[in-house]
Amino acid sequence: MAKIKTLYFCQNCGAQSAKWIGRCPSCGEWNTYVEEVVEKTVPDTAANAWKASSSVGGTSKAARPKPLGEIIFEEESRLNTHDDELNRVLGGGLVPGSLVLIGGEPGIGKSTLMLQIAMQLNGLRVLYVSGEESEQQIKMRAERLGRQQPGLYILTETNTQNIFRQIDQLQPNVVVVDSIQTLHSTLVESGAGSVSQVRECTAELLKYAKDTGVPVLLIGHITKDGSIAGPKILEHMVDTVLQFEGDRHLTYRILRTVKNRFGSTSELGIYEMQGAGLRQVSNPSEILLSQRSEILSGLAIGATLEGNRPLLVEVQALVTPATYGTPQRSATGFDGKRLQMLLAVLEKRSGLRLGQHDVFLNIAGGLRLEDPALDLAVCAAVVSSLNDVPIRGEICLAAEVGLSGEIRAVSRLDQRLGEAEKLGFAEMYISQFNAKGLDLARYGIRVHPAGRLDEVLTGLF
Ligand code: TYD
Ligand code: MG
Repeated sequence: MAKIKTLYFCQNCGAQSAKWIGRCPSCGEWNTYVEEVVEKTVPDTAANAWKASSSVGGTSKAARPKPLGEIIFEEESRLNTHDDELNRVLGGGLVPGSLVLIGGEPGIGKSTLMLQIAMQLNGLRVLYVSGEESEQQIKMRAERLGRQQPGLYILTETNTQNIFRQIDQLQPNVVVVDSIQTLHSTLVESGAGSVSQVRECTAELLKYAKDTGVPVLLIGHITKDGSIAGPKILEHMVDTVLQFEGDRHLTYRILRTVKNRFGSTSELGIYEMQGAGLRQVSNPSEILLSQRSEILSGLAIGATLEGNRPLLVEVQALVTPATYGTPQRSATGFDGKRLQMLLAVLEKRSGLRLGQHDVFLNIAGGLRLEDPALDLAVCAAVVSSLNDVPIRGEICLAAEVGLSGEIRAVSRLDQRLGEAEKLGFAEMYISQFNAKGLDLARYGIRVHPAGRLDEVLTGLF
């Protein structure tokens, strides 16, 4: 007879305690402890659950140390997902035996993306496990995507033991699970979506992936504050965490790497949600630069870098006389504090009277950017709107602005210059420190090196 044991789990960070506590000592949140029944038939078998239900043996034989030199590593062993954006964020394809978590708000398109990827893996056996939708609903979505994949199998099941039984029979090459919050394991008593279930089910999937070398793509929901629902521990357990985000009112979706054991974490994939699924956007700068028929004031183009990918984005500013006592400052897609700082620099170092003006800033295309190289474009957009003087369309900017109004160098300027040139820009304002050691003649673009903010503003207006 199994012993029933209960523990209290913090629903925010997954910390556990033998008794209820009001404030989590680990993450500091209040009232997050919930009692959950943890019943284990045999201790230590939790992570072995997939084996318990399967007839394959011998896979979990004890590991032995091996000299590093003897370990064979093949770069080509990564699986091509036939989706350039996904391949990029994964660091060059799907690594065998990896557990990838795809997080995102409800309705953003996680299921669509995963089904689409599953349908592109021609020649492979793919198992799509869904605890969220019925077979008919998935079929309907697949019809909409309009592709054929004879090797794609759909399983609507939420019990992990049953799932592993089916996996054992089907022997798929790739497994997709939609979503971790709907799964439950018989080894844990608490309800699906609870901290202990999420943790247990992830542990079982992880063990399965590592033992068999089959990559598992796991969908996870995100709470309002942007963290993946369920314990933080989930993020630590998986190999890669991808975040699917975007404004639901806009059609663009961004796939961002939050964590990656096999690649860089600053990669970005861009999709467009269309009637027939998600379309890869291979040249994002074109969509980010909004279609302009005439040149308006308050717009400046910044050459930014997301991961290894140069992007030219339109920074839009609106500066109007304040109607109420305290002027408003509002930024969308850009750090509000940084905007305040840049406004203070403009006020103090360039003598602009912004104290009586409301300032609104927006990055076109619904992107959220943190690259300091956008500073100069932000300043230029603000000044352009304040004076109502447009900036010529063929100009772009890439430099950080320091507190004393100095123009600072940015990383990988050559890539930014290359992208700007490709998109037909004729001039670029950069820091004089970046200009040193750079063969400017190589680029078909006129470069204006500057040391102070004033020099840029005089050049522009
Ligand atoms: P879905 O993948 O169900 O989101 P999630 O799994 O993240 O909750 O995506 C739902 C949205 O996508 C829904 O509003 C309809 C839209 N959609 C399209 O615009 N085109 C399509 O081809 C598909 C399949 C969905
Ligand atoms: Mg879904």
